[in-house]
Amino acid sequence: ALQASFVPKIKARQRFTNKLQPRASTYKVAILGAAGGIGQPLALLIKMSPLVSALHLYDIANVKGVAADLSHCNTPSQILDFTGPSQLANCLKGMDAVVIPAGVPRKPGMTRDDLFNINANIVKTLVEAVADNCPDAFIHIISNPVNSTVPIAAEVLKQKGVYNPKKLFGVTTLDVVRANTFVAEKKNLKLIDVDVPVVGGHAGITILPLLSKTRPSVTFTDEEVEELTVRIQNAGTEVVEAKAGAGSATLSMAYAAARFVESSLRALDGDGDVYECSFVQSELTELPFFASRVKLGKKGVEAVISADLQGLTEFETKALEALKPELKASIEKGVAFVQKQA
Ligand code: NAI
Repeated sequence: ALQASFVPKIKARQRFTNKLQPRASTYKVAILGAAGGIGQPLALLIKMSPLVSALHLYDIANVKGVAADLSHCNTPSQILDFTGPSQLANCLKGMDAVVIPAGVPRKPGMTRDDLFNINANIVKTLVEAVADNCPDAFIHIISNPVNSTVPIAAEVLKQKGVYNPKKLFGVTTLDVVRANTFVAEKKNLKLIDVDVPVVGGHAGITILPLLSKTRPSVTFTDEEVEELTVRIQNAGTEVVEAKAGAGSATLSMAYAAARFVESSLRALDGDGDVYECSFVQSELTELPFFASRVKLGKKGVEAVISADLQGLTEFETKALEALKPELKASIEKGVAFVQKQA
């Protein structure tokens, strides 16, 4: 009897308060480069999201099998596969979010910038198609070098007359994930609680973890700051070397990108409390793009959070100044790549 009277009450309330309604699976997500090392586990993780109604998988090869395989998971989203440029437009129509992990990864001894020549063209071509087919979607760029591929995407979107800086994101979530993990390990903290903002860019010294802003508040010795900062900056290379030629981070990257996609969809869904670090157009510094914490909303970036850059330690202030010339050069390289072809 108790249950019978309780259930209708909840249902009646749900009709009037959005918050109590179970979230519907309504968002459409495309992954471009879906058959790759990141693309496959990322597709699996997004397939598990209750917010996704359709998941479109695009690659230049090998995506049919990935789609057939994933489509057997009994979660709500419908999987469709698209192979090659002739199917790209159909893949993109109606998408709310497009995630781009297409392109070549690093091998030992390579920097992210060494990937520029191949990946710049791939990102340019894919973003042109996004501009033509779903210009209103959130665009998540994973392909490296992110410090240049995001400016490339911005230039392409500008040329197409559809650039919305609030909806273009360089995915730097993995830097935050790594920073959280390493800090929790070092300081013996409960992982779930630790949150370290990481600002700047996504390569070498441009990755700047703001350890002084770690939440919950923790104190580090100078040696710990030095050691943790270097480890976070080189964590990608740690994986590249361990994989010894077989690629770079794919599983942790897929985990990080899935978190960023889920955050974006929650923001689209009206959750007013979504914050992530991302490499976005920014006025926080004199550089046109900069990674920092941003508040996500229905329209994309709702606010770039400036508080993290206030009251930096001497170490962080120096590191911030030191990263600017490299980040500036990478941004300009991306912009020039598109402009010289125009
Ligand atoms: P992968 O080589 O395993 O997969 C790349 C996929 O892209 C392949 O399936 C390939 O067929 C596809 N592809 C190539 N050209 C394409 C095109 N024109 N259109 C659509 N798909 C295309 O590489 P992996 O390991 O998945 O890495 C992908 C990218 O992600 C690399 O550029 C890597 O540097 C970057 N990355 C970024 C990270 C970040 O934190 N933002 C972290 C780790 C990797």
